[in-house]
Amino acid sequence: MRPLWLSWSLVAAGFISIDCGAQNTYTYDKINIHFEMDKGYIDSGENMQISTKFIDGQYYYHFYKNLRSFPNGTRNCYTLRPDKGKGNTYLIRASFWYGNYDEKNQVPIFDLYIDVNYWFTVNTSNNIYTEIVYVPQRDFIQVCLVNIGKGVPFISALELRTLDNSIYQIESGFLRLDFRYDIGGLRSSIR
Ligand SMILES: *[C@@H]1O[C@H](CO)[C@@H](O)[C@H](O)[C@H]1NC(C)=O
Ligand SMILES: *[C@@H]1O[C@H](CO)[C@@H](O)[C@H](O)[C@H]1NC(C)=O
Repeated sequence: MRPLWLSWSLVAAGFISIDCGAQNTYTYDKINIHFEMDKGYIDSGENMQISTKFIDGQYYYHFYKNLRSFPNGTRNCYTLRPDKGKGNTYLIRASFWYGNYDEKNQVPIFDLYIDVNYWFTVNTSNNIYTEIVYVPQRDFIQVCLVNIGKGVPFISALELRTLDNSIYQIESGFLRLDFRYDIGGLRSSIR
């Protein structure tokens, strides 16, 4: 399988780019991608901002500034409705940076699910993202943060790209990419 970031740049239409917790929409000039607020994708949680001492620091990337955190409820889900609906292949990326937003200096650990499928356990102090290739059986996709009793779940950004079905030949189900990045200073590798 080719490295994912390659296919990430190959995809064209069918973008959903959500800056979770953001107060406004904007276009990120460097990559000319329009980021939306998460209003309309989720009802629960609250908007927060990382500690100001991290903004513009080594690990900073525009969509890490705001995040949405979920102090209430075990399971909080974003609902994505990609244009092409069910049966298509999508690449979904979830990004996280704790950034001491709650000033507790305690990085939470929580689970991420896609529909009913376990996807990933998030445990990060620096920024990371995780990606999955997924073929939904319904016209919408739920990305859920699940509280496992180790701190309040949060998310910084959620992105969806429609893939050419020929890139990944999976008929149904999902394919988690067996790598994840602790991006550190390499933020320029995000496209
Ligand atoms: C969480 O629940 C408490 C108590 O019901 C409520 O006051 C608070 O607004 C809720 N917070 C969020 C983000 O939903
Ligand atoms: C979370 O990450 C920290 C730092 O890498 C590690 O020490 C800890 O064991 C991890 N916790 C879990 C539950 O994986």
